[in-house]
Amino acid sequence: MNTKILPILSRRSIRTYTRQPVTDDEVRALLEAAMSAPSAMATDPWRFLVLRDRAALSALADILPHGKMLNEAPLGIVVCGELARAHRQELSYLLQDCSAAVENLLLAAHLLGLGAVWLGVHPNEDRVSGIRARFGVPEDILPLAAIAIGRPAEHPAPRTRYNAASVHTGQW
Ligand SMILES: Cc1cc2nc3c(=O)[nH]c(=O)nc-3n(C[C@H](O)[C@H](O)[C@H](O)COP(=O)(O)O)c2cc1C
Repeated sequence: MNTKILPILSRRSIRTYTRQPVTDDEVRALLEAAMSAPSAMATDPWRFLVLRDRAALSALADILPHGKMLNEAPLGIVVCGELARAHRQELSYLLQDCSAAVENLLLAAHLLGLGAVWLGVHPNEDRVSGIRARFGVPEDILPLAAIAIGRPAEHPAPRTRYNAASVHTGQW
């Protein structure tokens, strides 16, 4: 294993958090990292809904069946996409760009000493419509992932999921 990629291998999903808040500077850094992701033709179609209010975080936890850790997290960010701004207005480009932004945000959280977990929203229609209704997200904006963020209260070990069977070299 090349230790230079350790910051990537040691990013793990963190689902329990201490009571310490996330600072404004850290929120800004997370968003800056997310918006530094690659996007097709640099269209940057991502939009972000930042939630720090306890009632809002609990409401999001109610909408996401596997997002109950939001009840304890000091910060939640819903990553959304604006189809009209995506390359060729294609959903596939929107999803690829926004997924890159999510991963950048997760890695930035880890580098900042925070812990975070990706929570699936799209393509579950009940989650998408629940978020739209509760947070006033317009119809032309697609909520596609939520991220619970806080200071880690668990420290899972770095691991590799390298699988040689997934690699085809030269020809399939
Ligand atoms: C599209 C997507 C949706 C996910 N949804 C959830 C979720 O709803 N709840 C959750 O606890 N983890 C969720 N995860 C996190 C995965 O369970 C996790 O990344 C995977 O088990 C690998 O573990 P690691 O992140 O620690 O490497 C999701 C990940 C992705 C990419």
